[in-house]
Amino acid sequence: MPRFRRYGIASVQKNPESSFKVIAAVIVIVLYLLIKEFSSPKIRTKTVPTYGAHIQFAEWQNGTEKGDPTKAEKVRNAMKYTFWKYRENAWGYDDIKPVSGGNATTRNGWGAFIVDSSTTLALMGLWEELAASVQHIISIDFTNATGPVDPFETTIRYLGGLVSLVDLSDAGLIPTNIINPETREILLRQATTLAMSLGPAYDTPTGMPWPRVNFSTSLGEPDPPSVYLENPDKPRYKNPVIGPARTGSAILENRVLTRLTGDAIYTINATKAWAPLVWNQWLTPWAGMVDAPFDIVTGEPVGRQRHWDGGHDSYYEYLLKVTLLSPPHDPYIDDYKKRFLEAAYSLRTHLASRSAPAEQHMTQHLFIAKQDAQWLINKQGHLACFAPGTLLLGSKYLDQRYLRTFALALLEGCHHAYTSSPSKIGPEAWSWLPKFGYGDAVHQPFTERSQRELATTGIWMTDPHYKLRPEYVESLFYAWRITGDLRYRDWAWEMWVAIEKYCKTDYGFAGLRDVGKVEEMGGHRWIDEQQSFWGAETLKYMWLVFSDTKVADLDQWVFSTEGHLFRMIR
Ligand SMILES: *[C@@H]1O[C@H](CO)[C@@H](O)[C@H](O)[C@H]1NC(C)=O
Ligand SMILES: *[C@@H]1O[C@H](CO)[C@@H](O)[C@H](O)[C@H]1NC(C)=O
Ligand SMILES: *[C@@H]1O[C@H](CO)[C@@H](O)[C@H](O)[C@H]1NC(C)=O
Ligand SMILES: *[C@@H]1O[C@H](CO)[C@@H](O)[C@H](O)[C@H]1NC(C)=O
Ligand SMILES: *[C@@H]1O[C@H](CO)[C@@H](O)[C@H](O)[C@H]1NC(C)=O
Repeated sequence: MPRFRRYGIASVQKNPESSFKVIAAVIVIVLYLLIKEFSSPKIRTKTVPTYGAHIQFAEWQNGTEKGDPTKAEKVRNAMKYTFWKYRENAWGYDDIKPVSGGNATTRNGWGAFIVDSSTTLALMGLWEELAASVQHIISIDFTNATGPVDPFETTIRYLGGLVSLVDLSDAGLIPTNIINPETREILLRQATTLAMSLGPAYDTPTGMPWPRVNFSTSLGEPDPPSVYLENPDKPRYKNPVIGPARTGSAILENRVLTRLTGDAIYTINATKAWAPLVWNQWLTPWAGMVDAPFDIVTGEPVGRQRHWDGGHDSYYEYLLKVTLLSPPHDPYIDDYKKRFLEAAYSLRTHLASRSAPAEQHMTQHLFIAKQDAQWLINKQGHLACFAPGTLLLGSKYLDQRYLRTFALALLEGCHHAYTSSPSKIGPEAWSWLPKFGYGDAVHQPFTERSQRELATTGIWMTDPHYKLRPEYVESLFYAWRITGDLRYRDWAWEMWVAIEKYCKTDYGFAGLRDVGKVEEMGGHRWIDEQQSFWGAETLKYMWLVFSDTKVADLDQWVFSTEGHLFRMIR
């Protein structure tokens, strides 16, 4: 059982000694910058930032840093197609139904697609489309919602989109006839209105958010019954509980909002929301990794799930990324870095699992498993394919070569899940027989299909859907930009060819019911859903892989877990 100790934010506040350290560090940095300024030759051009990090590969040869315009244009055309089908058939609704042409209200009715894809339109220079989107965005009433509001989804999709638009505009990347100073102020006001409306989420004894907010009563609420209908196995606890990703993925968006407004409350609330995870007071067996879920009233972990897969993922992602965004005087940066590195090495030590070579499939691959109490769950979700990208980012920024090797091996595992699938699109989840610890594995290939898949590919599909998810191409984007190895561009193109072939519909792009059987299912292969991350992330990362490496340069921008990008201004 985890040991309970009282948690207090005071315990993490800086003491006089650490302020002294901060001041000393600032003096050292200033001296260093002065020396550097006067000793280096003046070859700076206007595009070289005065802030940022050295993330991207820099030793490009033979012009490989240039875009591949033909491929980039194909992806951009897919964004256009997606936009105009939605514009004509479902404008203002959250999503279009890409098979039937109907509409869906999945994200409180504010037009999730419009806000979420706006930053992709901006990067692609689709100005007519962006202008129409901005007109809609400034007219949304963020005090009134259809249905209960999910603070996590709303923060990453809507709030992230709004503040990213302001950052893109401030960076001079959006023409002033689309966002002029007045429009910028309205966008920022929309962001603060939304953040204020979400405020009641944080009215809990711990500061961890309620699962929902009722915008009519301005009160936090537990999960609605629909959550339990969709997941009948979800355990019920005395108080509302929350997973690491849902409570730990608000710091980037809110930090940027604090930078843009000067109001500290957003950062304070987001910091409190993940404090019980970062400054964990319970004994957990693996350094850096938390046991979940958490009771929002006591802050205590009530379950013993431990992993980097869906539900936990973006907490670990934000631990790293906040250190790229925070001002250097932020007293918590070192804690975040330490926590991220511990969690990354714990993942490598405890959950990285090599597959045993199967009958006809002789190669082995590296995957990440999950732990639940004493069980090793030998199943990886598509969502976990974000990890190679985040680990690579961490390996470069924090100079960790072991993490780089680990990340690239995991990326190869995700690549295998794609290329071994008949459609060349990876499934929602897959399993393997671990080379080590075979007997403890929870999943076994019981069906004829899973045995056949295992024998020929070394893995089997535990969930054969594809939901238009971005995580694999997101990691390919990081791999390409950080290693400069062209193979990652090729891998992205392989994925793109398959997506165009199988997912394009009369009204957009649709997910697949079974990536192993698309050919035989014909028109029945689709799921009539096109979630907003298709525009926000999948198309964005795919396009960025084929763009000039100076576009959305990782030395200057930090991407949120929804693919919205924020300036690395300290
Ligand atoms: C660059 O091009 C030259 C000449 O085509 C070739 O010999 C060299 O291997 C290329 N270098 C890289 C890194 O691709
Ligand atoms: C949206 O869908 C509803 C039914 O779900 C339909 O009645 C309505 O006409 C649709 N709106 C548009 C603009 O197609
Ligand atoms: C809130 O939105 C609903 C539609 O979703 C609308 O009927 C209602 O009038 C709105 N209320 C306010 C106060 O704007
Ligand atoms: C908000 O709370 C009120 C009062 O309890 C309730 O009638 C309403 O259905 C709730 N709204 C939502 C969207 O859950
Ligand atoms: C901040 O958290 C407090 C609860 O501690 C809450 O009342 C307030 O509405 C929140 N404000 C914002 C902007 O999140």
